[in-house]
Amino acid sequence: MRILRTIAEVRGTVREARTAGQSVGLVPTMGAFHEGHLSLMRAARAQTGLVVVSLFVNPTQFAANEDLSTYPRDEARDAGLAEAEGVDILFAPEPFEIYPDGFATSIHVSGITDVLDGASRGAHHFDGVATVVTKLFGIVRPDVAYFGQKDAQQVLVVRRVVRDLDLDVRIEACPIVREPDGLAMSSRNVYLDADARAQATALNRALDAAAAVRRAGERDADGILSAAQAVLAEESLVPEYLELRDAETLHPVTRIERDALLLVAARVGAARLIDNHILKGDA
Ligand code: PAF
Repeated sequence: MRILRTIAEVRGTVREARTAGQSVGLVPTMGAFHEGHLSLMRAARAQTGLVVVSLFVNPTQFAANEDLSTYPRDEARDAGLAEAEGVDILFAPEPFEIYPDGFATSIHVSGITDVLDGASRGAHHFDGVATVVTKLFGIVRPDVAYFGQKDAQQVLVVRRVVRDLDLDVRIEACPIVREPDGLAMSSRNVYLDADARAQATALNRALDAAAAVRRAGERDADGILSAAQAVLAEESLVPEYLELRDAETLHPVTRIERDALLLVAARVGAARLIDNHILKGDA
């Protein structure tokens, strides 16, 4: 595996791979790898010829009060894990490589970015994600790009950018990877102390409880959300949001007629965690 720092190096390597007839897979990351990231790398390794993983803690998607300066960083560890998964290129640029002096462009997706995480974290969050992901697509020109379904709203935003800007890349959303007790893997789980770590399992338990109610035939959002809310309340967790939204448009859902996303975000100890389940329209 090669670690590359510049756009020119990545472009040169991708060009050679394409000349040799290889397809290109991209896994965009901010590092602090866990099994969720590794599952994306495995999918890319299985499906594409040249596997590029980007490692860039993107400053533009953090608000001033967020954890940019403390976000876990350990490039040597991440490089070892990526190499073990058969990744070909780890693209780990410095911020000025991505945002040189005079950088002035931002991509804003209307409609689906001012709700949920966009409302909690600020609209700039998804502008930052959309802009950096579009840049990475321009740099790597992947055939397929891999994202985790845990960031369900992010996946929808990226899909919308690809559709609206006619970008020639297939977006693959890979299933959420969970700890044995159900907690969704996240780089931010390292912020949890023992008590918060135990409390954090309530997020998935709440979503599970709601999914069970749905499977039992409930279609109304009120009934589904109350089942989840009851589990959070047992753990004294007050969610930033707990919402049922259409799985494609993110419009609020009052009664499930087609696939919906049940999404939760909560502060647990020192971490802000998110999770979601897809609730089937035809279950
Ligand atoms: O999901 C992430 O880690 C980031 O939002 C991404 C997609 C790498 C963009 O910085």
